[in-house]
Amino acid sequence: MTPDLSIEIAGMKFNNPILTASGTCGYGEELADVFDLSHIGGIVTKSITVKPREGHPPPRTAETDSGMLNAIGLANVGVDRFIAEKLRFLEKFDTRVIVNVAGSTTQEYVDICSRLADYPRADMVELNFSCPNVQHGMAVATNPSLAENTVKEVTRVFSRPVIAKLSPNVTDITEIARACENGGASALSLINTLVGMAVDIETFRPRLTNNTGGLSGPAIKPVALAMVHKVYKAVRIPLIGIGGISNYRDVVEFFLCGARAVQIGTALFVQPDTPIQIIKDLKNYLSKNKFKNINEIVGQLRIY
Ligand SMILES: Cc1cc2nc3c(=O)[nH]c(=O)nc-3n(C[C@H](O)[C@H](O)[C@H](O)COP(=O)(O)O)c2cc1C
Repeated sequence: MTPDLSIEIAGMKFNNPILTASGTCGYGEELADVFDLSHIGGIVTKSITVKPREGHPPPRTAETDSGMLNAIGLANVGVDRFIAEKLRFLEKFDTRVIVNVAGSTTQEYVDICSRLADYPRADMVELNFSCPNVQHGMAVATNPSLAENTVKEVTRVFSRPVIAKLSPNVTDITEIARACENGGASALSLINTLVGMAVDIETFRPRLTNNTGGLSGPAIKPVALAMVHKVYKAVRIPLIGIGGISNYRDVVEFFLCGARAVQIGTALFVQPDTPIQIIKDLKNYLSKNKFKNINEIVGQLRIY
């Protein structure tokens, strides 16, 4: 019997727990040339802002040992074009669409989400809290009360599930996780990138025009696993694991630590059909180990 990979998050069913991570596959158009998007559990879009953004000048990505750095600067088409063109393109696929939203004030998150509320194809929103917050002079990601309030305000205008995406660049991730849960988040996704830097020793310049960037890929997987493990013990809402996932073994590790779904990011640049391979291998792993349902392994880590 084929194991059941379907999962549920906040009452919404997903065909399987393998999603794409924000910013690593645009709005799905390019990936749709590689495989049928209906075969994955969901697609998380690039962060959408109120107005279109050009982002930072190149170079804005750099390869590092076991990973990459990026400082794209939230380049995106803005909410109006996103709704008119990109969301419409995603209509035809039998997959969940999670729209990642970024704002520089609480009001901007609210404005974007209230626009998206009128379009049911946007099944859920994921709030990217790793943005500089102009209003309060610091990132929402590092301020529990600001994070809680932002989630609360968004849930007033967006009645479908709201996911808060957590940054690892904090002292205690459980504090922010609890604040988002208190604010009414239906789920948490973690982790976003870790602040990093790479330097060119010939030019003496940083490899990114933004000087620093976000580290992603296999290098961050151990950090992400530790954070999922910690947050799993701190909250009741479902967790979506992200960070360096490139094969089914990585997915199983995240599930054992408490994740109910995962997102694949940097691996898409190495092998764009990674999600399809993972789904196939995951089924084999579950069958071989006599599990009927992927949910059976969630949080089953045997800690010392
Ligand atoms: C090129 C690039 C662009 C990204 N853009 C976004 C973004 O717009 N919004 C966001 O929330 N995360 C963004 N991320 C972070 C990823 O969604 C993910 O959290 C992170 O890369 C860790 O997963 P990975 O190691 O599988 O890539 C970006 C990552 C990369 C590599």
